[in-house]
Amino acid sequence: MRRPILVANRLPVTIGVDPDTGQQTLTHSVGGLVTGLRPLHESSGGLWVGYPGAEPDEDVRRQLTEHNLVPVELDPQDYEDYYEGYSNDAIWPLFHYFTEFGSFVPEQFEAYRRVNQRFADVICDLAEPGDAVWVHDYHLMLLPRMLRDRGLDVRIGFFLHIPFPADETFRILPQRVEILRGLLGADLISMHTYDYTYNYLRSVRRILGIESQAGTVRMRDHNVRVEAHPLGIDTAEFQEKAYSQNAERFLTQLKRTIGDRQVILGVDRLDYTKGLLLKLQAFERLLERSPRWAERVLFMQLAVPTRAGIDTYQDLKSEVERRVSEINGIYGSPLLSPINYLYQTVTQEELCALYRVADVCFVSPVRDGLNLVAKEYVVCRDDGGGALVISEFAGAVSELGEALRVNPWDIEGTADQLERALEMSLGERHERMMPMHSRVIQNDVHRWVRDFMSSLEATETEQTGSPPMLESSILAESLASDFRTADTSLVMLDYDGSLREFVDRYEDAVPTKEILGILHEYGQRDDVKIFINSGRDHQTLGEWFDDCPIDLIAEHGAWMKGAGEKEWRLLGVLDTSWKSDVLGLLEDYVNRTPGSRIEEKETALAWHYRQTEETLGNWQALELVSVLENSLRGQPVQVLHGAKVVEIRQQGLTKARAYDLVIDRFGPFDFELATGDDRTDEDLFVHVGTNVHTVKIGSGNSAAKVAVASPRSLREMLAALLRAKAG
Ligand code: UDP
Ligand code: G6P
Repeated sequence: MRRPILVANRLPVTIGVDPDTGQQTLTHSVGGLVTGLRPLHESSGGLWVGYPGAEPDEDVRRQLTEHNLVPVELDPQDYEDYYEGYSNDAIWPLFHYFTEFGSFVPEQFEAYRRVNQRFADVICDLAEPGDAVWVHDYHLMLLPRMLRDRGLDVRIGFFLHIPFPADETFRILPQRVEILRGLLGADLISMHTYDYTYNYLRSVRRILGIESQAGTVRMRDHNVRVEAHPLGIDTAEFQEKAYSQNAERFLTQLKRTIGDRQVILGVDRLDYTKGLLLKLQAFERLLERSPRWAERVLFMQLAVPTRAGIDTYQDLKSEVERRVSEINGIYGSPLLSPINYLYQTVTQEELCALYRVADVCFVSPVRDGLNLVAKEYVVCRDDGGGALVISEFAGAVSELGEALRVNPWDIEGTADQLERALEMSLGERHERMMPMHSRVIQNDVHRWVRDFMSSLEATETEQTGSPPMLESSILAESLASDFRTADTSLVMLDYDGSLREFVDRYEDAVPTKEILGILHEYGQRDDVKIFINSGRDHQTLGEWFDDCPIDLIAEHGAWMKGAGEKEWRLLGVLDTSWKSDVLGLLEDYVNRTPGSRIEEKETALAWHYRQTEETLGNWQALELVSVLENSLRGQPVQVLHGAKVVEIRQQGLTKARAYDLVIDRFGPFDFELATGDDRTDEDLFVHVGTNVHTVKIGSGNSAAKVAVASPRSLREMLAALLRAKAG
């Protein structure tokens, strides 16, 4: 395995100050990220780069180095603006759908950018060729791009520990483009669930206009894989700690305090995403409906201190404390309080003892990237005796199907499930718990690391990038000898954007004299079969090239007509059942988008927006593609987003298929050349054999072997090739 360099805002230890001695101390950091990464760091011998919480003194610096921990030192004001500001006051609330809490302060984003750059500096100093730099979480979303731009010889992975929201929410973020592009610097982006990766890819498409194919985003300089890998826990460690002496001792004490009451346990950082107020409301509702539970159940809620410097967190703390005393006041007695609320952290052994004693674990976030507490509970209840109640808004729910699910906003429904959990027979508890237990054991944190690392490794072999861009004369020279000696040749040319430059109005792109001259010369040769293979409608192509001795393929492979023939041949069965609905939708977009227009073809409809103001046009096009893809799911059509055009065409009639028909009818050929500039030509490039000379017009990723800069270069190349054949 490559040496992993873990990069996260937080190190697994945080610097504090002993109030008695004034000396710096190191305490364990809390939260899912730290729990998840610690085992990898301990076993791999790699480094962990992060902010230690304060400037380390010499002794602490030595301790950090001993443990392979690399502190990133930051200006305190920058840190505040980046951590409390942009990370936790903008991204955190927005990504958890708390849009009303989001505050987007440009200066804080600048600090966020500076801190990300600082991390990049530190990594550049210590990374060695072949390392795997694995960046974690929402604090460092610009870092992957920054690292790529530094040209390090490393693999770059990114894992997001929080949800990625739906594009409708994400697009609120003023710096949405920078954030999306920042992540795309990675070779592999991973998140806990498919929903989150789907949301991310949808935002990439709708906001950046970049399509993905089967989870791969092709960038100019590399490919990016986007995959779901739900984080697991170190199950062996939890099992060991759960039965440690310390845990046993604490368990005995706990049992004494609890008596014969049943225990509902909650363990959450005191964060508004954890839904603590709704949780209390549901518990209160349970007591209200069935007061008998007040004496028979103890609700232990551990609220772990977090982000105390942020106002929303302080307000939440006061509100939670107020509600707890209210409920205890109403339903408690001098001897018993139904809620035992603790604002503190506990050791892992104590936590395991709490899990073991809990009859019900109550996990009810209103939004949570995953939630490790649920998995930890399942592992510690290896006797099958507990019941898990979990929110459908926690990412972990997709792996814990046997748990009782709740919608935390539905107070009545949540109280029902709590009651059901309390009353559940031992048999049913066992039946539900054990399959979850085996699943969590199987998908532990070591497997998570292995899966992520092997996906990161696999990205290496997938890189395609852009083909080399050649001068027309050099390309002609490299093809000349094959072309000259070939007895039979096939030349297949795309038209718009390849042979002919784009113009504002698509109907004005008539062939020039120069183009017609080149085509004539090729067409007159008996040893060359030349095709225009275009997306244009067949009537227009027929009119434009009426006098030209060349063959034509129109509408992206739907029609063919031989040189001199009068009739077009449809290369399939015409299906226009979808057209009237799509036409209605396109007309609506024409009304809403000044300068855009519809082109009707027999097998396709195209919405052109070359003459629309650029920002509006791009935005409307992305929206239209998404609407079409949703509304046409299952229909026999394909939606293509080309150069300033969105095209909807009948499925199955492609340039690649038309090529096959040409080979069947006229082939084989000694020399084959195929050229093109857009998505429909890529279908062809991918499809044809390696002996075909494929040329992309323009820059960018392509499956073509080589590229030329422009239609003019292609024309020059074609003319030079002819001269070579003639001479
Ligand atoms: N945890 C901890 N100290 C405590 C209580 C909990 O370190 O006193 C750990 C707990 O074991 C879990 C993590 O904090 O691994 C919480 O992770 P989770 O995914 O549930 O939520 P997050 O805090 O990441 O939002
Ligand atoms: C969540 C985040 C982590 C973070 C943790 C604790 O799990 O995904 O990145 O470390 O909460 O929050 P804190 O702000 O204390 O690091």
